[in-house]
Amino acid sequence: MRSRLGLVSGLVAGGLLGAVIGLGVSVETSRPPMVIAAALLGALVLGALGQIAQWVRAAAGSTRRLEYAHARAVDAQGQHRRRLDEVHNRLGRTDRDLTKRLDTVTEQVTRLGEHVSHQPADIGRQTRQIVDDQVALLQAHSQLQRLVSMNQVMPRPGTWAASEDLLLYLVGHVLREQPALIVDLGSGQSSVWMAAALRQSGSNGRVVAIDHDLNYAEQTRELAAAHGLSRWLDVRVAPLQETQIEGQTYTWYDRSLMTDLHNIGLLSVDGPPGQGGKNARWPALPLLQAQMATDGVVVMDDMVRNDEQAIVADWLTRFPQWQVTNLHFEKGAAALRRVDSGRAS
Ligand SMILES: C[S@@+](CC[C@H](N)C(=O)[O-])C[C@H]1O[C@@H](n2cnc3c(N)ncnc32)[C@H](O)[C@@H]1O
Repeated sequence: MRSRLGLVSGLVAGGLLGAVIGLGVSVETSRPPMVIAAALLGALVLGALGQIAQWVRAAAGSTRRLEYAHARAVDAQGQHRRRLDEVHNRLGRTDRDLTKRLDTVTEQVTRLGEHVSHQPADIGRQTRQIVDDQVALLQAHSQLQRLVSMNQVMPRPGTWAASEDLLLYLVGHVLREQPALIVDLGSGQSSVWMAAALRQSGSNGRVVAIDHDLNYAEQTRELAAAHGLSRWLDVRVAPLQETQIEGQTYTWYDRSLMTDLHNIGLLSVDGPPGQGGKNARWPALPLLQAQMATDGVVVMDDMVRNDEQAIVADWLTRFPQWQVTNLHFEKGAAALRRVDSGRAS
């Protein structure tokens, strides 16, 4: 409709203008037919001009719309490009991450492969070692039973108690040497087995077992009583207290309960428990060596532990009159004798 408006208004305006001009010319020239021709010509010319103007306007409008659409298309293209760049960057990062992870996984799988390739040998070696150790403990247990007869059930050795191999060593020593006085620092099965060995050998010797704990001391007494060994075993409760030695403070048993112990033939060091602090067992030799028999033996249990190893190493440095024999037992042990005792461990 709007596109026809230019044409119609041009025709009307051109017709009127042509008529007016034709009228003027007719009046001047006194020739009436000029009016219609002029009106037609004017209408035609202005109608055509109006239509052209309308087309030009329409074309301009289309151009603006095209420009607008183009601008939007460019904008959208820019956004797409930015998104594409972003996706591309992300893909690049993911790719780098994946490559890095793949490298790590490859490295771990390679290491695992190397580890696994050594496993059968290691597992075999470890299994053989465990079996050997258990067989050694069983043999020790069996010998222990044959050497010393017990008429009641004994609790299982190990964990808190001394292992069978150390019990066999202590019992063997008692049967062979028959010490008149044995001191067991840390009461328990070891105290009862050594008392049984004294009885077995017909000795009048005795075991004095020291315990800081009333309940564990009582358990040891009851175990000894159940085996009829009370005569050979004296369990003393010696609470832990601070002791000064060469300017250092240690937590150790109340010494006043040990002043009557002389000529100790065998001193077993299996207490106080290590949780009392580092060097818990260190005071044993410095405080009791003067009460040891000349050929007395000190046995330190748990030599697989760093603390016990350090204690024995320190004893040997400070007291060079003592020499050590390492005993390759389940929990490790060490036997110390005076150099001039003239006896082998
Ligand atoms: C290593 S144990 C002594 C073991 C003893 N020589 C033996 O062979 O049976 C040292 C101290 O730990 C304490 N004790 C014993 N059995 C324990 C247990 N099951 N749990 C915690 N402490 C224990 C006792 O006070 C004992 O004197």
